[in-house]
Amino acid sequence: MDNSEVITLLSRREIEKMRRAGQLAAQLLQHLEPFVKPGVSTLELNDEAERWTQAHGAKSAPLGYGGDKHRPAFPKSICTSVNEVVCHGIPNAKQLLKDGDIINIDVTLIVDGYHGDTSKMYLVGEPSATARRLVEVTEKCRQLGIEQVKPGARLGDIGAAIQDYAESQGFSVVRDFVGHGISNIFHTAPQVAHYGSYGTGKKLRAGMVFTIEPMINEGTYEIEVLKDKWTAVTKDRSLSAQCEHTIAVTDSGHEILTLP
Ligand code: MF3
Ligand code: CO
Ligand code: CO
Repeated sequence: MDNSEVITLLSRREIEKMRRAGQLAAQLLQHLEPFVKPGVSTLELNDEAERWTQAHGAKSAPLGYGGDKHRPAFPKSICTSVNEVVCHGIPNAKQLLKDGDIINIDVTLIVDGYHGDTSKMYLVGEPSATARRLVEVTEKCRQLGIEQVKPGARLGDIGAAIQDYAESQGFSVVRDFVGHGISNIFHTAPQVAHYGSYGTGKKLRAGMVFTIEPMINEGTYEIEVLKDKWTAVTKDRSLSAQCEHTIAVTDSGHEILTLP
């Protein structure tokens, strides 16, 4: 077996560190709420997030992350994914939010070496009824996925619960991005698909920590990555929504580590 498939079990001490990082990340999402208004640029949101993060003694994990021979490192501190952007939107001074937009802000903070990764949807002014329904369904998908998490359950149970509900509501589940193990490493095993079948995949064990971050599309689940090599958009340019928590498997079930 490849070492990249080994799922590390975190100690109580490590989970306590994950809880501190997760809580601060969740607090940052709360802090940003009043800034998300028509006319603000996604760069202004980024800069406020970076300022707040530094003021709280933490580090933004996305800044400078993920560069390789195929793409540049991520250039900003948060991801801002508006409307048809599925994930990894890059904050930009020219991108101003407007009435009716939906935006996902995804933050990952490093505190004492450990990562807290969480994201949420914000409504700008008054989005369409469909946009609001997409956001509600996405939030419920995350919740249904989390409810599957307990020792002895399987990774596929999470994806199945999410896919069943999203598709029952007439929406689709993105395949190309998945949740991930997270600890002192940003992205590690396991991969947590947001689609799948009950009773399949690795068994969950207490001490595993991973994200659940479904991306749900109004139309096709297919995506395209733009020329910047980061921004993922829906192939049909229909709306997409996402929300994320970092979850620990506990002896009795699970704990959401990214609560404010
Ligand atoms: N926070 C994202 C996730 O949920 C990852 C962002 S990587 C970045 O996994 F480089 F785009 F910031
Ligand atoms: Co994540
Ligand atoms: Co994230």
